[in-house]
Amino acid sequence: MSRVAIIGAGPCGLSMLRSFYQAEKKGEKVPEIVCFEKQEDWGGLWNYSWRTGSDQYGDPIPNSMYRYLWSNGPKECLEFADYSFDEHFKKPIPSFPPREVLYDYIIGRVSEGNLKDKIKFNTRVINTIYKNDKFEVSYQDKANNKILTENFDYVIVSSGHFSVPYIPEYKGMNSFPGRIMHSHDFRDAEEFRGKDVIVLGSSYSAEDVALQCNKYGAKSVTIGYRHNPMGFKWPKGMKEVHYLDRLDGKKAIFKDGTKQDADVIILCTGYLHHFPFINEDLKLKTHNRLYPPKLYKGVIWQDNHKLFYLGMQDQFHTFNMFDCQAWYARDVIMGKIKIPSDKEIDEDINKWVSMEEKLENPDQMIDFQTEYTKELHDMSDYPKIDFELIRKHFKEWEHHKVEDILTYRNKSFSSPVTGSVAPIHHTPWDKAMDDSMKTFLEQPTK
Ligand SMILES: Cc1cc2nc3c(=O)[nH]c(=O)nc-3n(C[C@H](O)[C@H](O)[C@H](O)COP(=O)(O)OP(=O)(O)OC[C@H]3O[C@@H](n4cnc5c(N)ncnc54)[C@H](O)[C@@H]3O)c2cc1C
Ligand SMILES: NC(=O)c1ccc[n+]([C@@H]2O[C@H](COP(=O)([O-])OP(=O)(O)OC[C@H]3O[C@@H](n4cnc5c(N)ncnc54)[C@H](OP(=O)(O)O)[C@@H]3O)[C@@H](O)[C@H]2O)c1
Repeated sequence: MSRVAIIGAGPCGLSMLRSFYQAEKKGEKVPEIVCFEKQEDWGGLWNYSWRTGSDQYGDPIPNSMYRYLWSNGPKECLEFADYSFDEHFKKPIPSFPPREVLYDYIIGRVSEGNLKDKIKFNTRVINTIYKNDKFEVSYQDKANNKILTENFDYVIVSSGHFSVPYIPEYKGMNSFPGRIMHSHDFRDAEEFRGKDVIVLGSSYSAEDVALQCNKYGAKSVTIGYRHNPMGFKWPKGMKEVHYLDRLDGKKAIFKDGTKQDADVIILCTGYLHHFPFINEDLKLKTHNRLYPPKLYKGVIWQDNHKLFYLGMQDQFHTFNMFDCQAWYARDVIMGKIKIPSDKEIDEDINKWVSMEEKLENPDQMIDFQTEYTKELHDMSDYPKIDFELIRKHFKEWEHHKVEDILTYRNKSFSSPVTGSVAPIHHTPWDKAMDDSMKTFLEQPTK
């Protein structure tokens, strides 16, 4: 029987486990699976931790999520086709759940089928090489500090790519009297109540961390973009200016001449695709983009078709795209999908990469990733889900954000799986200070 190693038990690793489980339920003979997870529990980034820096074993903390994080896209766009929100919560729930609610949903799906038994927790993969037609995977049992090695026929890298922060330096940082941190270490916006906060970056972390700080009482929030401003209509107390030039003592001086007192600088400057646990010839090298090169169908390593990477794209689509990738990878491993010649693989990758390089705006990017996900969906028996509705939802969501960045999370969308329409949440997002699952689910909805 062939052996499959899955590296990481976050949403992508769990999609992979679930895909094999669904095949097994249909009576198919599946390979032996071992999933390695360096944390003590599953869920990846959604498995919140108060920790920053390293854990009790000296291993860097992968978590980048924070208290008060709510879904930043409609939950309907990420819904699992084989496990709807209605099935999990037994009633329709609003479209933008807080982190704890989404975590519950992710974990609910994998609670069936003894999948946890396939995962080695507290186990960090430290090296992967390919020799004699096998992958030799070395891993550390963190609790017992033991290094072990096993051979596998296939390796699936599902280690995520939002855990290792990219930390640039600006002039004056060494002598800045306040705090400098990356969004990776941001945990609780309450910490910045009454403070002058500078946020650097212009993507989702910059947007959300800045809004969180404003919501929880920062004195001022100034966002410094590098290339393009986000351009939303920011609420009172927030502004967006062009690029930090330097820090001069407590003052942040921007390229457009803005000078702003600062207590804290939060670098929302993104993350590195970082795979120290895999040999150079197998290592994906990319920045955060919608179609990283060298991955056939966004999944299969071009130079070794027994190696798969899941979820390595920049993401509009998340959980159900990860599922489509996992179902596809499963069927390739189980011999149900044949992959074409090297030439065709190369042409296909080049086609997608060159289309991606021409994208100019969010609507085109949404179309691109929807087409990619639909193509994968058509290749396996992943259950029916309405990707056209998801495409429409994403575009509507983008326009809601432009209309009002404070209210987009109060909107309602319909399910691409069950068709049910989400109720409006009982409290508008900017007034909802308690984001516990209990409060979110138990109070009556409008
Ligand atoms: C701040 C933040 C907010 C987000 N919010 C949303 C949101 O609202 N909605 C949404 O859809 N998406 C959101 N995302 C996107 C997120 O990427 C996905 O939701 C999802 O977590 C990706 O799953 P993953 O399995 O690829 O990676 P991860 O969730 O990162 O899981 C990877 C797992 O691999 C493990 N691992 C890593 N290296 C090793 C190793 N060497 N050995 C063993 N195990 C290893 C890690 O411990 C981790 O458990 C957010 C991301 C961030 C950073
Ligand atoms: N649920 C939520 O509310 C929530 C909250 C936060 C994050 N997320 C998710 O987290 C993931 C990661 O998002 P992210 O924003 O951290 O990363 P990202 O999308 O990769 O964006 C990185 C940002 O860093 C900027 N940057 C890089 N180097 C810089 C520098 N030297 N100076 C200034 N800016 C610099 C980039 O700007 P340029 O464009 O100029 O290169 C870009 O805006 C996304 O999937 C997102 O959806 C979700």
